[in-house]
Amino acid sequence: MLGHIQDWVELLFRWGHFITGIAWIGASFYFNWLENQLDRRPAQNRDGIAGHLWAVHGGGFYYLEKYQVAPGKLPEVLHWFKWEAYFTWITGFVLLVLVYYLGAESYLIDPRVADLSVATAVAIGIVTLVASWLVYDVLCRSPLGERPGLLSLVIAVLLVLLSFGLTQLYGGRGAFIHVGAAIGTIMVANVFFVIIPNQRDLVDAVKEGREPDSAKGKAGLTRSRHNNYLTLPVLFIMLSNHYPATYAHEWNWVVLALIMAGGVLVRHYFNVRHLPQRKVWILPAGAAFLLAAFFLTMPESREPVASEDSADAAEVGTDVVWNIVENRCLACHSADIRQGGIAFEGKEDVERLADAVHRMVVETETMPPGNATGVTDEEREKFHRWFQGLDE
Ligand code: HEC
Repeated sequence: MLGHIQDWVELLFRWGHFITGIAWIGASFYFNWLENQLDRRPAQNRDGIAGHLWAVHGGGFYYLEKYQVAPGKLPEVLHWFKWEAYFTWITGFVLLVLVYYLGAESYLIDPRVADLSVATAVAIGIVTLVASWLVYDVLCRSPLGERPGLLSLVIAVLLVLLSFGLTQLYGGRGAFIHVGAAIGTIMVANVFFVIIPNQRDLVDAVKEGREPDSAKGKAGLTRSRHNNYLTLPVLFIMLSNHYPATYAHEWNWVVLALIMAGGVLVRHYFNVRHLPQRKVWILPAGAAFLLAAFFLTMPESREPVASEDSADAAEVGTDVVWNIVENRCLACHSADIRQGGIAFEGKEDVERLADAVHRMVVETETMPPGNATGVTDEEREKFHRWFQGLDE
């Protein structure tokens, strides 16, 4: 019963995280698109208007105008966009606790990487989130903030270093999710601490009839830009737990860096494609990074260990594998428990799921999580030889 309740709490928070994330990033994509598509020809716009746009959606026509600075008088109702961002973070943090902190032994700690205690692992996670924001914020406010190109480069290098560091402390899956959580925290904190307060200053300035502080406007813009470029990397990371070939790879932090670079370039293409100086190299460059990640994660063809003992080298039948499954897998994959929806009720199930079993146990070594039941190398080797035998 308790497990069932826990499953449902997790379900609701995951659902909520997904919904608020779509609302936040959807609105952000929409406003970016709007900004890029405005008809800015002066002759086509009223005085004080920077641009306008017509759109048709859901059976209605919409007409929008963007002010050059601000309207002379504030409207009665002014819509803000912030709760989507805050709730994305709140639901995400609860999920992090439910899945990765309460399940630290399966999803965060991998004794083959570092034998951390649960408390240490969780502390490292929380410190990572807070420290990432503090370091990022200090950099943006430092003289480096005046040089946006260099600032972006420094942030990119620090993110790769963070990926490297975390993969030396956590299992790949937990390391990836913490890179994503750190980026997500930076993005939401940008909204909370910089973008919204600066927007409030702009609104107050209009109310009081004074000039808005242009430095604040500029800072807000830099943070929005960063958020824009970070969306695609963070979205991949949130899906990455489905792809053990990426997070369980020996060079997982390099794989992550390549995919993040690919995502940033794809985002860049969509930011500049409407501009006259269209850059044809951007998408191919993004594709090149992703292709590099594709080749890097290619499964190696494993040679069976040469054994002196000829009986050992003999073909491995499903009987042998079933024996191992009974000892090492049924704790989580029996008819009653069915972790991940997988149950091995008999040999047929192991044969039916052979591809997935081979991928999880041999290629990526992600099952059992954190090697909870202590599967040995010889046993993994047996899975491999059994699988090869099935192919023939
Ligand atoms: C400590 C619990 C535990 C043990 C032991 C365990 N698993 Fe899993 N397994 C899980 C969980 C949890 C999932 C769900 C996937 C996820 O959320 O990462 C899963 C998922 C799977 C999947 C589906 C993966 C996919 O996404 O296609 C396969 C196949 C699998 N396990 C095979 C095995 C095999 C084979 C063993 C024994 C060598 C094993 N597992 C041992 C917990 C366990």
